[in-house]
Amino acid sequence: MKEKLKDITARALLAIDKADNNKDLAAVKVEILGKSGELTGILRNMKDLSPEDRPLAGKLVNEARVEIERAFDAKFKYLHDLELAKKLEEEKIDITIEGSDKKLGGLHPLTQMQNDVIDFFTSLGFAVLDSPEIETDYYNFEALNVPANHPARDMQDTFYVTDSILLRTQTSAGQIRYMENKKPPLKMINIGRVFRSDDVDATHSPVFHQIEGLVVDKHITMCDLKGILAKFAQRFFGEKTQIRFRPSYFPFTEPSVEVDASCPYCGGKGCRVCKGTGWIEILGAGIVNRNVLATCDINPDEFTGFAFGIGLDRITTICHGINDMRLEFENDIRFLKQFN
Ligand code: PHE
Repeated sequence: MKEKLKDITARALLAIDKADNNKDLAAVKVEILGKSGELTGILRNMKDLSPEDRPLAGKLVNEARVEIERAFDAKFKYLHDLELAKKLEEEKIDITIEGSDKKLGGLHPLTQMQNDVIDFFTSLGFAVLDSPEIETDYYNFEALNVPANHPARDMQDTFYVTDSILLRTQTSAGQIRYMENKKPPLKMINIGRVFRSDDVDATHSPVFHQIEGLVVDKHITMCDLKGILAKFAQRFFGEKTQIRFRPSYFPFTEPSVEVDASCPYCGGKGCRVCKGTGWIEILGAGIVNRNVLATCDINPDEFTGFAFGIGLDRITTICHGINDMRLEFENDIRFLKQFN
């Protein structure tokens, strides 16, 4: 048996030595040490030996197994390391190689301005409404005190979808939607796209953006309106900015005003931007018409409010000194890049 063990061990070591991949090596292991392997076979035959011989035989078999296993483990580690080294070599990446120059995108100037405006008003406690761009005649006109055939409808050239459905001409439609669901005290802004059948030129576009503001509470007056709008103008056009009110007309506010800001370019002296007047018109506003409050089930004897509508595109052109509003809609990358 000693001879046989020596022979098995010698052959096993040779086979282990010859195996040059882990698959072959595993096969060798099964052949010698597996369930029906040669060494296991010898162990099984031990029952034929006399009880006195068995301890010695067991010891020999064990020694042979330990020797083979050790050789096997060593080879396994060797092959494994070799494979890893090969893999690392193949997958090597050069981290010093220069990368391609990826440019980061940026927010559109109108989006940036919109975010700033939202920041400004939410810091004063205003809620932000998002109302539909496709509106019914009721919300865009009728509930805003503009009944059918009212001459004020001609103030805005409307895109109609059907007789009673249209593309909103003003974010004022959101006032009604808001007051239908929420009762005073309330403060909200509504920012979004509005549509009018206007020809495109440097100051007009059939699609533009408005910031609607609405505050309704007890004892709201024109002074509250002026205070907030003055703060707004100073925040966006500079600390020294002044505002002035001019009488105007909107069906949903009474009295109504047009609001000018002192020209941030010349400080009011008169320049090309303000066409020599020292003032730039920035918005329309007024005290919410009693009829509008009543339509929304808010008692006009108990509550008053103010509303305003600011042109987002207009204040963006003023803030950045953009001389043509079309630039804000054409998405010319050379223009947009300047705002990153
Ligand atoms: N909706 C008006 C417009 O588009 C602006 C406005 C809003 C005026 C709110 C008064 C109050 O011209």
